[in-house]
Amino acid sequence: MCGIVGIVGTEPVAERLVDALRRLEYRGYDSAGVATIHDGKMDRRRAEGKLFNLEKVLDGEPLPGTIGIAHTRWATHGVPNVTNAHPHFVEGVAVVHNGIIENFSELKEELIAEGAVFESQTDTEVVAHLLAKYTRQGLDHKAAMLAMLNRVSGAYALVVMFADDAGTIMAARSGPPLAVGHGKGEMFLGSDAIALSPFTNEITYLVDGDFAVLTAQGARIMDFAGQPVTRTSQISQAATFLVDKGNHRHFMEKEIYEQPEIISHALSHYVDFAENVVKQPDMAIDFGSVSGLAISACGTAYLSGLVGKYWFERYARLPVEIDVASEFRYREIPLSKNQAALFISQSGETADTLASLRYCKDEGLKIGAIVNVRESTIARESDAIFPILAGPEIGVASTKAFTCQLAVLAALSISAGRARGTISADDEKAMIRHLIEMPRIMSQVLNEVQPQIETLSRDLSRFKDVLYLGRGTSFPLAMEGALKLKEISYIHAEGYAAGELKHGPIALIDENMPVIVIAPHDRFFEKTVSNMQEVAARGGKIIFITDERGAAASKLETMATIVLPNVDEIIAPMIFALPIQLLAYHTAVFMGTDVDQPRNLAKSVTVE
Ligand code: AGP
Repeated sequence: MCGIVGIVGTEPVAERLVDALRRLEYRGYDSAGVATIHDGKMDRRRAEGKLFNLEKVLDGEPLPGTIGIAHTRWATHGVPNVTNAHPHFVEGVAVVHNGIIENFSELKEELIAEGAVFESQTDTEVVAHLLAKYTRQGLDHKAAMLAMLNRVSGAYALVVMFADDAGTIMAARSGPPLAVGHGKGEMFLGSDAIALSPFTNEITYLVDGDFAVLTAQGARIMDFAGQPVTRTSQISQAATFLVDKGNHRHFMEKEIYEQPEIISHALSHYVDFAENVVKQPDMAIDFGSVSGLAISACGTAYLSGLVGKYWFERYARLPVEIDVASEFRYREIPLSKNQAALFISQSGETADTLASLRYCKDEGLKIGAIVNVRESTIARESDAIFPILAGPEIGVASTKAFTCQLAVLAALSISAGRARGTISADDEKAMIRHLIEMPRIMSQVLNEVQPQIETLSRDLSRFKDVLYLGRGTSFPLAMEGALKLKEISYIHAEGYAAGELKHGPIALIDENMPVIVIAPHDRFFEKTVSNMQEVAARGGKIIFITDERGAAASKLETMATIVLPNVDEIIAPMIFALPIQLLAYHTAVFMGTDVDQPRNLAKSVTVE
């Protein structure tokens, strides 16, 4: 996901733009650039790789100017190199872009036929050429922008400067987020409020179809027909979350260890700790009257939803239709207005999840968003918002957001059970007590298992393939463990339902592929032990993640056994998530990969 920043004011901007880009590094990128206008001349500096490289270029060739735009690029079209880095210049037009111009090939052919000469392989460059063309045809900058916006299609956040106007930045949003920051005598643009937090906390979020014209005095916002629209500003909380690693080596490690504190804060929003009951959730979704639920999300968020499916079905007797959003959005699932839909997204900006939300909205369902960013697009387009309150998650690999999503889903499924009369008041109190104990148990686990897992990770890093197995709510955990390991250590890993072992994966079992079995001593335990015996009988190496009862019950020889406290099934997924997060983290650290910004990954995929 690319990062965008712009400033128009009266003070030098280049250094502040690069600082703001640093707060967007968590989005993942492979090159960066900045452009300013000074004394009627527009100039730029660009560099491949990390911001450090761009800073070195700027040290050698400073960029003066009190107006500028800057960009971190996560390559979609064209390799990561300086030529493809933004800003793109064409005849006095500078453009930075987040997203995809879906009709760029057709536009590029048309422009080349008219004599345009392209220097990059990017889709973005067609925007600069279109604006240069319309300007040559005599359109003023606003008219040229509107003409361009009505030609391009796709998902984009665009920010533009014109060399002959050192007092104006223009911007447009159709998909990826874009925020306007209100300063004193200067105005800002950013991909999110975190980028702008040192400058201002007064933020106006553009919505799809907005075109903004910024000067140092303020912003005019209109639609793509040029008609003025009204957008209210708000005081963003992002500034209170200015993040650093504390005494940790990586943001991911910090976010793993802050889970007990964070989840306790999240639970307090949903649980009455005094009465041991779930607080009344946002009644825009009445779980007592819906006939069923649809759940959709991507990646780790999808896997938390899969755990939620088990809970809604078991505790609230609610049938749940769930799918990854990239499939859900195209299946044209027959849904009824009596169902409700839940969309889970840490960023609240994932394109496939947003598209699935819009499908359900068109079908007339009530929409609930389980999100970490209340101001996000998915939140704003929902009837009910269920915030996970995890604070900004900087590590690309999701950890605290996952366990907070689970905590919210647990509270909602209990609340749904109460509303539908499928959970007694005593059952509710007992389950809530377990949720209340959970942060303390998480702290205990993180401290107890860390040394063993750090040692184990050295062994694990020797392997090329790993299989994770689990049953019930441990099955989505097995997939989450595999996702964590593969996305940060680049070791191939698969998560499987343990009962499926005999239906194919058992062919893979030998001493070269460790099998990580996630099995609390629950109602599936005996069956999972049988699967472990099948693995052992074929020389497979087992890493057994269980609890005290499970460790006492199984006499199987293992490569390692990680013993967690005995916990109730309603909190087992959050507790068992910890060793799988730590195992992936330490394996990646041992392998020397970029733990916080793994190769090819972005924190939020705002394009299809
Ligand atoms: C999780 O570790 C991954 N980074 C990725 O799968 C992520 O969960 C997915 O892209 C969904 O993102 P979202 O929660 O912001 O929608």
